[in-house]
Amino acid sequence: MTLPRAIYCSSVLIAALLLLVPSSAVVPHALFIFGDSLVDAGNNDYLVTLSKANAPPYGVDFAFSGGEPTGRFTNGMTIADIMGNVKCEFMSNCDCKLDLMSSGTTLSGEALGQKSLAPPYLAPNSSAAMASSGINYGSGSSGIFDDTGSFYIGRIPLRQQIDYFEKTKAQILKTMGEEAATDFFKKALFVIAAGSNDILEYVSPSVPFFGREKPDPSSFQDALVSNLTFYLKRLNELGARKFVVSDVGPLGCIPYVRALEFMPAGECSASANRVTEGYNKKLKRMVERMNQETGPESKFVYTNTYDIVMEIIQNYRQYGFDNALDPCCGGSFPPFLCIGIVNSSSSLCSDRSKYVFWDAFHPTEAANLIVAGKLLDGDADAAFPINVRQLFQYDHK
Ligand SMILES: *[C@@H]1O[C@H](CO)[C@@H](O)[C@H](O)[C@H]1NC(C)=O
Ligand SMILES: *[C@@H]1O[C@H](CO)[C@@H](O)[C@H](O)[C@H]1NC(C)=O
Ligand SMILES: *[C@@H]1O[C@H](CO)[C@@H](O)[C@H](O)[C@H]1NC(C)=O
Repeated sequence: MTLPRAIYCSSVLIAALLLLVPSSAVVPHALFIFGDSLVDAGNNDYLVTLSKANAPPYGVDFAFSGGEPTGRFTNGMTIADIMGNVKCEFMSNCDCKLDLMSSGTTLSGEALGQKSLAPPYLAPNSSAAMASSGINYGSGSSGIFDDTGSFYIGRIPLRQQIDYFEKTKAQILKTMGEEAATDFFKKALFVIAAGSNDILEYVSPSVPFFGREKPDPSSFQDALVSNLTFYLKRLNELGARKFVVSDVGPLGCIPYVRALEFMPAGECSASANRVTEGYNKKLKRMVERMNQETGPESKFVYTNTYDIVMEIIQNYRQYGFDNALDPCCGGSFPPFLCIGIVNSSSSLCSDRSKYVFWDAFHPTEAANLIVAGKLLDGDADAAFPINVRQLFQYDHK
């Protein structure tokens, strides 16, 4: 099978430019990645947890591992992986838009260029790559609130992810010296993709809300945004300057919530989507406020994956998909078992590129490529106030 893949730049052009441009020009800026299973690159492999993606068929289309599982909760690259591997924008004379879906060829890791994947913080030798690729602190089942995901036992809540970043920062200061480290953090992208699990627990009737009474949706959304603001400010104080703050996608459409709420075929849960949309609205306002408060020293970009994924679901055939709402792996009903079913055709679709959802919770790489392309190069409806490519290039005053 062939998967639609992104062509980042003509490889001939890359080869030609590598000879002309000093090598520093092609080194991408580092990514420091925080959040949940949408970005986890393997941290949960090192935890005692029920939230793991360390066995086939997870990773089956991941170019850089040759199809071996890496702990990523999808069949291939996450959106953060894709952002970390857009290199050409630092080269002059290279017209290298993400040319999504157009090739039909499968690019190998080599064709993508020297890979730049921020390693999971908990991997034994992750610090070897920290000064070039950055570090990934993401952890499946974690949330903005410390208690979120406790059902799964092991996970790294956002608070602890930032504690870990503090340790990374101390190491980088030691190896680079203060001036170079400050400049390094100024240029690095800080990607925060959290909140999905907090909202999922809130909308799941079966999960007790920390043993207390559930707050009303508006108070819940306010508390979530307020906690996230606290963490963004902390990262800002620690030297982070370029932020990609992800909204939460349409949770009412994920196979898990659709099954939980017995949604008829083709329908999403309006109530789950309402809670999510309310949170996203407040989050966007907070990001605007942060930009005003911090001035040109810092740049916060709000990404609107909600509308992008909704649009893909509504017009899935236009995007080359055959199935908008069923997962490729694990089936549409509990227990949604995707891990370890590699040889059962009844629980694994034959063509991953035709599905929007990989498992009951996560999009396929094919969907991630489309979303990432819009965040990188889209207009203010996709990424606000500037897109991610402009954020890469943003020069602090
Ligand atoms: C970390 O160790 C693994 C296994 O030994 C190796 O494959 C990988 O390349 C190493 N990564 C770095 C960044 O050194
Ligand atoms: C975080 O949310 C909790 C409610 O779950 C709230 O009590 C606490 O004050 C919030 N913290 C911040 C810094 O907003
Ligand atoms: C799955 O099938 C492949 C090829 O048919 C075989 O090589 C592999 O050993 C099987 N794996 C399991 C876990 O049965």
